[in-house]
Amino acid sequence: AKLLVLNGPNLNLLGTREPEIYGAQTLDQIHQHLQQFATNQGHQCECLQSNREYELIERIHAAKLDGTAFIIINPGALTHTSIALRDAFTGVGIPFIEVHISNVHARENFRKHSYLADVAAGVIAGLGSQGYELALQAAIKQVTGSNE
Ligand code: DQA
Repeated sequence: AKLLVLNGPNLNLLGTREPEIYGAQTLDQIHQHLQQFATNQGHQCECLQSNREYELIERIHAAKLDGTAFIIINPGALTHTSIALRDAFTGVGIPFIEVHISNVHARENFRKHSYLADVAAGVIAGLGSQGYELALQAAIKQVTGSNE
């Protein structure tokens, strides 16, 4: 199946950005790992990071047309602000998992609310970069009905 991994604003800084919160892995390393993981199981995984809300929204719209079966997204701070991103997901109806590297519930109050969580298939937070892999594994299981 076709899987899409989206990362929002500031996640291009992973590796150097507040490593005590976000870890030492770079986004390139995470993306390469996810692509390898998907390929090993016979799936395709495209990864995109953007600091622009519109680019993420346009990619979600395009996913409707290109046969993307499932989306994994770390929306970054857009999680807490973007009704437009939520509307993009409900608009295309593609199932998605929301991932956060940090435990957003153990931080500032403004990180506790997500505009996406209640329309997501699931949410993973606080498990570091492993959260992306767990989400991908869950997405593959949902898409294929198996856990191979
Ligand atoms: C984040 C948590 C958000 O609150 C923050 O704005 C980010 C990263 C995470 O992965 O933990 O940019 O989504």
